Amino acid sequence: MKKYINDLTVCANKKLNPQYFILSLTSKYPLPEMLPGQFVEVKINNNHDVFLRRPISIHQVDYEKNILYLLIKVVGKGTQTLSKLKAGDTLNIIYPLGNTFTYEGVKKALLAGGGCGIAPMLYLAAFLHKNNIETDILLGGRTSEDILEEEEFEKYGKVFVATDDGSLGEKGFLTKHSVFENLSSYDRLYCCGPTPMMKVMAGIATEKNIDCEVSLENLMACGIGACLCCVTATTEGHKCVCTEGPVFNTKQLIW
Ligand SMILES: Cc1cc2nc3c(=O)[nH]c(=O)nc-3n(C[C@H](O)[C@H](O)[C@H](O)COP(=O)(O)OP(=O)(O)OC[C@H]3O[C@@H](n4cnc5c(N)ncnc54)[C@H](O)[C@@H]3O)c2cc1C
Ligand code: FES
Repeated sequence: MKKYINDLTVCANKKLNPQYFILSLTSKYPLPEMLPGQFVEVKINNNHDVFLRRPISIHQVDYEKNILYLLIKVVGKGTQTLSKLKAGDTLNIIYPLGNTFTYEGVKKALLAGGGCGIAPMLYLAAFLHKNNIETDILLGGRTSEDILEEEEFEKYGKVFVATDDGSLGEKGFLTKHSVFENLSSYDRLYCCGPTPMMKVMAGIATEKNIDCEVSLENLMACGIGACLCCVTATTEGHKCVCTEGPVFNTKQLIW
């Protein structure tokens, strides 16, 4: 897919809570086709400490309004700077980057997003829904503050929630949720979140012989396969997460 480097204009910066915010961005050009699982690399302006772009998943796209949505969690200097953007500011992005989730032959899927890992799941849920694939969505986090966009997800499937402290949904790790008691009804699992969570999901999938795709969030620099800082070990050798991922079938990964 052709890559673009554009200045996009911030339409809004919606604070969801002190940690998370959604940037909506528009372009003077029609947005190019973007697929679930792909990401953008954003340039951080006004912060001389941050010179590398930051990778952020495509959270949602509204082609009619020509708006791209990014869901971001503040973890360090780059995301802190992004959290301060206001309507009318510009953000330089390279996009769309990376490979995509696959869905051929899938009839019923379970999407699991932990914390910020829900970011790529909304666009995936919308895409699966559009392709008439039955979708259950499991959102997990440490507390209710990490459970975001529940109403948006409900447009595309049945939503289940797990929080470590029990402040919303079932109490306990996402991977212990009772939805896994009916695992045989799914023919594909999709997952994004902390690595330990994705590893447990991979184990569950292997045990039940269900295909599982995960989106890896390795640290990245160039985002275009030039610096090799993002490589991960796979059964076919080392692969760049930025160009050959971020989506991998868990059977490929050597964790
Ligand atoms: C393909 C991909 C998609 C992503 N999508 C999103 C998204 O949609 N929304 C979002 O909020 N974040 C997303 N991330 C993570 C995001 O890129 C990092 O949180 C961001 O780069 C941190 O930048 P910073 O300058 O704020 O923090 P830094 O100052 O660079 O780091 C602060 C702390 O966060 C840790 N950290 C930095 N990057 C990562 C990472 N990739 N994974 C785990 N820990 C990290 C650092 O080790 C450090 O402890 C994605 C990452 C990848 C690779
Ligand atoms: S981030 Fe540079 S090769 Fe992947």
